[in-house]
Amino acid sequence: MNSTFEKETQVVILTGAGISAESGIRTFRASDGLWEDHRIEDVATPMAWERDPELVWGFYQGRRRQLLDVVPNPAHDALVELERFLGDGLLLVTQNVDDLHSRSGSQNLIHMHGELRKLRCEECGEILVAMDDVHLEDKYVDCSKCGVERMRPHIVWFHEMPLKMREIEMAVADCDVFIAIGTSGHVYPAAGFLGLAQACGAHCIGINLDPPQNVDLFDEFHQGKAGELLPDLVNSWVGSE
Ligand code: APR
Repeated sequence: MNSTFEKETQVVILTGAGISAESGIRTFRASDGLWEDHRIEDVATPMAWERDPELVWGFYQGRRRQLLDVVPNPAHDALVELERFLGDGLLLVTQNVDDLHSRSGSQNLIHMHGELRKLRCEECGEILVAMDDVHLEDKYVDCSKCGVERMRPHIVWFHEMPLKMREIEMAVADCDVFIAIGTSGHVYPAAGFLGLAQACGAHCIGINLDPPQNVDLFDEFHQGKAGELLPDLVNSWVGSE
C-alpha cells in the first residue's frame, strides 16, 4: 500500500545511523561489531568516561571533527521537503548525534541521543555549542560558566536516559503515521516506538537497507538505501501539492 498524506496528517519520524550512511558516516552495527574500531563499552558509557577520559575524549573529538567533512544527502533533504508540506504536524526524532538533519534544514527535531556539536558541564549543566577550531583540538574544554575542568560530550551513553522521552512518547502515541528510517531496531527505548505507534493505531512505514529486527510490525516496508528511496516516497506522500 502507498499512503498519501493530508496537510493535517500527524507524522512522527524516527531516524537512525542508516540515514547518514550515504553521507559517509559509518553505522554502529557493522559486521565487525566495532564502532570506528572501538568497542562501544570502551567509548560510549559513563564508566568508560570515568575510567579513561582521554580515550573517550579523543574518540568523540574524532567524531566531532568528522562533521566538518560530511554533508547531508538526499534522504535528509527529502525530510525537509516533507516538513515543508506538513509543518508542525511533523516531528523528527533522531538517534543520530551528527548534525546532518539540522544542516539540511529540518526544524522540528529532537536529538534523543544527544549531539556531537555540544559539550556539557557535569557540574553546573551548562551546554556549549563547541565546534570552533579551539574546541576541536585534542585537549579538554573547561566550563566557562563555573570553571570546572573537562566538559563531557553531550551524548547519551549506554546506561543513560535518552532525552525528551515524554514528549516523544506522547507524539508517537498520537500520530497518524510513524516512519522509521535507517535503524536496526536493536536499541531500546527507541526500538519500542514502533510497537507503541502500532498499538495506538498509526500506519507504520519502515525504510531500511536490511530488514530490521522488528520488521514484522511495519504495515509497509521499503528495502533499500534511504537516499535513493526517500525522495520518491516523499513525492508520493505529498502528492501533486
Ligand atoms: N539506507 C537505509 N538504511 C541503511 C543504509 C542506507 N543507506 N545503510 C545502512 N542502513 C541500515 C542498516 O541496514 C541498519 O539496519 O541502517 C541500520 C543502522 O543500524 P545501527 O547501526 O544499529 O544504527 P541505529 O539503529 O541508529 O543504532 C541505534 O545504537 O549504538 C547506539 O546510540 C547508538 O543511536 C545509536 C543506537
